[in-house]
Amino acid sequence: MARPKIALIGAGQIGGTLAHLAAIKELGDVVLFDIAEGTPQGKALDIAESGPSEGFDAKLKGTTDYADIADADVCIVTAGVPRKPGMSRDDLLGINLKVMKSVGEGIKEHAPNAFVICITNPLDAMVWALQQYSGLPTNKVVGMAGVLDSARFRHFLSVEFDVSMKDVTAFVLGGHGDTMVPSTRYSTVGGIPLPDLVEMGWTTQEKLDAIIQRTRDGGAEIVGLLKTGSAFYAPATSAIEMAEAFLKDQRRLLPCAAYCDGELGLDGFYVGVPTIIGANGIEKVVDIKLSKSEQIMFDKSVEAVKGLVEACKAIDGNLV
Ligand code: APR
Repeated sequence: MARPKIALIGAGQIGGTLAHLAAIKELGDVVLFDIAEGTPQGKALDIAESGPSEGFDAKLKGTTDYADIADADVCIVTAGVPRKPGMSRDDLLGINLKVMKSVGEGIKEHAPNAFVICITNPLDAMVWALQQYSGLPTNKVVGMAGVLDSARFRHFLSVEFDVSMKDVTAFVLGGHGDTMVPSTRYSTVGGIPLPDLVEMGWTTQEKLDAIIQRTRDGGAEIVGLLKTGSAFYAPATSAIEMAEAFLKDQRRLLPCAAYCDGELGLDGFYVGVPTIIGANGIEKVVDIKLSKSEQIMFDKSVEAVKGLVEACKAIDGNLV
């Protein structure tokens, strides 16, 4: 059986890390696409040359020609401009919307059957626009945010409780921005929900609140440290987790920016919700019940995303 084909649209920091991970995990053959001549070719060759030592079987190709992504099974989109220090995700909107248009058209023409994972920020608006520009079904176009935000939350919790990250589950819902909703009720250590751990005296509400805030500021913390770019190792790993769930039909339950059509009271809208990812892409949006306070935070987050979507519509009147 032919190997799956994974097209990475954008060969920058995240794109290169995605290519390296996909090859090491032997998820398929990798095509790196970018508009910057030389960058995708150079990274593809460099990673291919790591193959003999690592011992993976995967072909890598770098290109500036959309024809090379033909019939890709998965497309992961990082094309665009990353956030610089002092720049909010929303500042990126105008620049990256234009990029989504060209990427969407490229995917529509050459890889219309792919499962498309968008990483470009501001995420919830970009994935919404990418779905429209590509014309692909909504179950095949999804945004990566919740897996990363949850991974950050899980990391901080595992340090606080001094337990393995494997035993910490966490759920972060809503938009990928300052209004994201880390849910404590649905986050557990060894199956014990966080509010119970506070009651048991394992931690305090104050410490938990600080961890939640640090999770919300997770992207900005890395930007502040790196100074010349944004996070790339964890974002790439999160998207690979989603791609693997699709390629191996794992039916993983992962929080993603998915199209909601009635679920969680949302109508025709992309936002971070629990989903099941399998061979058909988004197999299901899990319609969880939120508590009153979670619902208030979620609504606020949805409003923030709606603001971005309206801003996109104001820029491009063809978006509906
Ligand atoms: N088509 C294809 N590639 C493009 C286009 C385009 N129209 N415009 C820009 N690019 C490429 C750039 O040439 C660059 O190589 O996208 C790549 C982006 O890479 P980086 O600048 O290194 O950004 P990265 O850190 O990988 O982040 C990518 O993910 O988290 C988000 O906010 C982040 O939107 C940003 C994206």
